[in-house]
Amino acid sequence: MALVTPDKMFQKALKEDYAVGAFNVNNMEIIQGIVDAAKEENAPLILQVSAGARKYARPAYLVKLVEAAILDTGLDIVLHLDHGEDFEICKKCVDDGFTSVMVDGSKYPFKENVALTKEVVEYAHAHGVSVEAELGRLAGIEDNVSVDKRSASFTDPDEAAEFVKLTAVDSLAIAIGTSHGAYKFKGDPYLDFERLKIINKLIPDTPLVLHGASTVLPEFVSLCNRYGGDIPGAKGVPEEMIREAVKHGVCKVNIDTDLRLAMTAEIRKHLTDHPEDFDPRKYLGPARDAIQAMVSHKIRNVLNASGKR
Ligand code: G3H
Ligand code: 13P
Ligand code: ZN
Repeated sequence: MALVTPDKMFQKALKEDYAVGAFNVNNMEIIQGIVDAAKEENAPLILQVSAGARKYARPAYLVKLVEAAILDTGLDIVLHLDHGEDFEICKKCVDDGFTSVMVDGSKYPFKENVALTKEVVEYAHAHGVSVEAELGRLAGIEDNVSVDKRSASFTDPDEAAEFVKLTAVDSLAIAIGTSHGAYKFKGDPYLDFERLKIINKLIPDTPLVLHGASTVLPEFVSLCNRYGGDIPGAKGVPEEMIREAVKHGVCKVNIDTDLRLAMTAEIRKHLTDHPEDFDPRKYLGPARDAIQAMVSHKIRNVLNASGKR
């Protein structure tokens, strides 16, 4: 049991057609819910921390909570920085003991993205830390772009191959139609599987990462709305599409929004059903159980749907 890098997990997942879940963490209950599910399902696990999570929980807390989770469960866990926007935050996380960092230079032109990624790879690899980069942009419907413009920002397969060669990055996040948050599609959900297949063919040994992979399960949106929430028109990536992506080289699947919805639905329901409760443990306990159930569902039905792990 230890903090580990994701490399072995990815190589095994690539060979056996399943994916490793990368779940965003912000506090103790979220971490406990996720690790309890991973233990129950005997699944490999990445816990990822965004810049926002670092700011909210303060850096030392999340590292120590993840170390505590390892002690408590006996699991090997990857501690990953999600969307590091510059060299400094990546360096800080490497220095803090993270075993994996994402440098997100996707907003820059190709050359600048390569330069930033190389700088992070050099530092991280010298410290035994794995690096994920991103090429292509994840435009959401909130970005107000047309379907044509949206696909213009998808990852170019030849550029992806060139990018991996130039940077020696360990895994690559690609844009094929997903986006962050609860509003991913206006009309029918669409992912560019042909593009994904070409990328996977050109760089078959590079683990591909799917950001924005939450499904925004309607029952959780409805629960939130029934108990006083206001989340109209939310739509995510159907689970069938994630299962399909996993067959074509995607072996890290990023999930945050589905955890947020599960937790919030449970807290809203609990406080409505039990207006007399004011002990936070009374609603954070069930919220932790809701996270665990969501993560178990993802591992069983989406990430390891092939049953090959
Ligand atoms: O990629 C975004 C993740 O959902 C993290 O979100 O930046 O609000 O923590 P956050
Ligand atoms: P979702 O918003 O779809 O959960 O995506 C999370 C993510 O990509 C974190 O990097
Ligand atoms: Zn992301």
